[in-house]
Amino acid sequence: MGERSRVVILRELLPAGRELLSDRFEVSSLGLDAGWQQMLAAAAGADGLVTDLTFAVDGELLDAAGPQLKVVANFGVGYDNVDLAACAERGVAVTNTPDALTNATAELALTLAMAAARDLPGAEKDLREGRWQGWDPARWRGFELSGATIGVVGAGRIGGRFMELVAGFGGERIYTSRQPKPELEARFGAERVGLDDLLRRSDLVSLHLPGTPETRHLIDGRALGLMKPTAVLVNTGRGTLVDSKALILALEEDRIGAAGLDVFEGEPNFDPGFLTTPRVALAPHIGSATYRSRDEMSRLVAANVIAVLEGREPPNPVT
Ligand code: GLV
Repeated sequence: MGERSRVVILRELLPAGRELLSDRFEVSSLGLDAGWQQMLAAAAGADGLVTDLTFAVDGELLDAAGPQLKVVANFGVGYDNVDLAACAERGVAVTNTPDALTNATAELALTLAMAAARDLPGAEKDLREGRWQGWDPARWRGFELSGATIGVVGAGRIGGRFMELVAGFGGERIYTSRQPKPELEARFGAERVGLDDLLRRSDLVSLHLPGTPETRHLIDGRALGLMKPTAVLVNTGRGTLVDSKALILALEEDRIGAAGLDVFEGEPNFDPGFLTTPRVALAPHIGSATYRSRDEMSRLVAANVIAVLEGREPPNPVT
């Protein structure tokens, strides 16, 4: 029997996927605290690398792995951390984990939308810190989503599922997308519009785009200036979609209603202004963090590695 292929998990893969890999290959895993130098050293000689969004997969890492490397399996649907050209030049396949996290991420977008619209974080903070003086007719009034015009920016898989979840609120649904989505139009009466139109009309704006050079700061001061002063902005896509400073200013000056954020520029760092900004619900990039989704993502990572190392087309190639 020939030598088993080597798969290096550069941070961590849940047992649901790790066990599938260990059945077939020689597998090592560095854990969450792995630093860059440790990753470069561990990658040497790997046939497959399991990566995630928290670090760059670039030419340096690929060269450290060596010419036998066949696959980079990214744990997540986004792959803005992967230098696709560097992988292509070296003949390395790149895969991701779509579908598995669609529902979990759409549900978190709705969670953040409702928490932000009612300023649940602010109200809870008052309660926890002993400032609750009793029922108050005027205090803690927020916005309702029923009857709202809901704008979905980027109506792909997650945006589409989000639209399905909010359909029960009635109101209008509008979306931006490179391609028209006849299915969303037929099922939910959704209307495809330009971004400026969407920002002007929406009571809730939910971002579902990948992080690319083209989408960087799509929501900047100008875009925020188009939104209604009562509108809620939700971002579960990538932190780079929103200019943090401009958003903090818009919230502080009451130029938009509220915001719900799961992703930040420069994670795990983020603008500390968000900690003191009013009417903002914050989450530490947990869009896909459900038991079901993360197990399924882990299995998909493994299925992609196994397919490539066994000479088959992977189920989720990104190009
Ligand atoms: C998480 O952000 C992912 O891209 O899966």
